[in-house]
Amino acid sequence: MRLKDKVALITGGARGIGRAFAAAYVREGASVVIGDIDLSAAERAAADIGPACSAMYMNVADVGSIQACVDRVVDKTGRIDILINNAALFDLAPIVDITPESYDRLFSVNVRGVLFTMQAVARHMIAAGKGGKIINLASQAGRRGEALVAVYCATKAAVISLTQSAGLNLIKHGINVNAIAPGVVDGEHWDHVDALFSQYEGLPRGEKKRRVGEGVPFGRMAKPEDLVGCAIFLASSESDYVVSQTYNVDGGQWMS
Ligand SMILES: NC(=O)c1ccc[n+]([C@@H]2O[C@H](COP(=O)([O-])OP(=O)(O)OC[C@H]3O[C@@H](n4cnc5c(N)ncnc54)[C@H](O)[C@@H]3O)[C@@H](O)[C@H]2O)c1
Repeated sequence: MRLKDKVALITGGARGIGRAFAAAYVREGASVVIGDIDLSAAERAAADIGPACSAMYMNVADVGSIQACVDRVVDKTGRIDILINNAALFDLAPIVDITPESYDRLFSVNVRGVLFTMQAVARHMIAAGKGGKIINLASQAGRRGEALVAVYCATKAAVISLTQSAGLNLIKHGINVNAIAPGVVDGEHWDHVDALFSQYEGLPRGEKKRRVGEGVPFGRMAKPEDLVGCAIFLASSESDYVVSQTYNVDGGQWMS
C-alpha cells in the first residue's frame, strides 16, 4: 500500500501501459482517474480495475480539454497527487514521405499534451502545497534516432528534455518530475507499429515484432506489467530525492 490515499491521473490509461499502471496504483491503495480520448475503452478499463478507478474524457491535444479534465478530477477528489503523462501516438515514414499532418498530430499529443498537462496539474499541486509526483512516458526512441521513425523519436527526445526542465523548475514546490523510457512493450501499440513496418520494409506481419523481441538482451519484449515497479517507485515517497531523471526500463536495450 505504498500509494495509500493518493489520487492519480493517468492519461491514455484505457489500454496498454497506462492501464497496467492504473491497476497497479489501485492495488497500492490509490484512487485513479483514467483520462483518455477513447472514453468507452477507458470506462471498460476502470470497471475491470474496480471502484477505486474511474474514467473521464480527455484529449491531451486540446488545452481546453486538459484543463476541463484536471478541474473535474480536482472537483471530484479534492486534489491530484500523481500525474502520469502516458497518452501518445506513433507513426513512421522515411524522411522524404513525412507529412506536416503526421508531424503536427504526433507533436500535439506527445509533446504539447505532455507539457500542458504537466502545467495544469502542477498549478493545482502548487496551490495545494503538498508537493506531488509527475511521471512522463518517454521511450528508448527518445535516446537515439531511427531511420523510419524520425518524428516519434523527436517527440520522445522532447519528453526527456521537458522532464529535465520541469523537474528543475518544480522541485522547489516538492514536485518530482521524472520519466520512464520503455523499450519495446507488447500490446495494441506494437501491433500498429508492426503493421507500419510491414508496409515500409516488406516484412510479413508479426516479423518485425519477432525480430525486435529477439534483439532485447532480456530475451523478450516487455509486458506492461514489467514497468509497474518503476512507476510505483516514482510515485511513492521513496523517490523524493529523484529529480529530472529518465529511467530506462527496457530489458537492457539502452544504457544512459
Ligand atoms: N508500447 C511500446 O513499445 C512503448 C515503448 C516505448 C514507449 N512507449 C510509450 O508508453 C506510452 C504508452 O504506450 P502504449 O503502448 O500503452 O500505448 P497505446 O497506444 O496502447 O495506448 C495509448 C492510449 O492513449 C490514448 N490516447 C491517444 N491519443 C490521445 C489523446 N489525444 N488524448 C488522450 N488520450 C489519448 C489512446 O486512446 C490509448 O488508450 C506512450 O507514451 C508510448 O509512446 C510505448
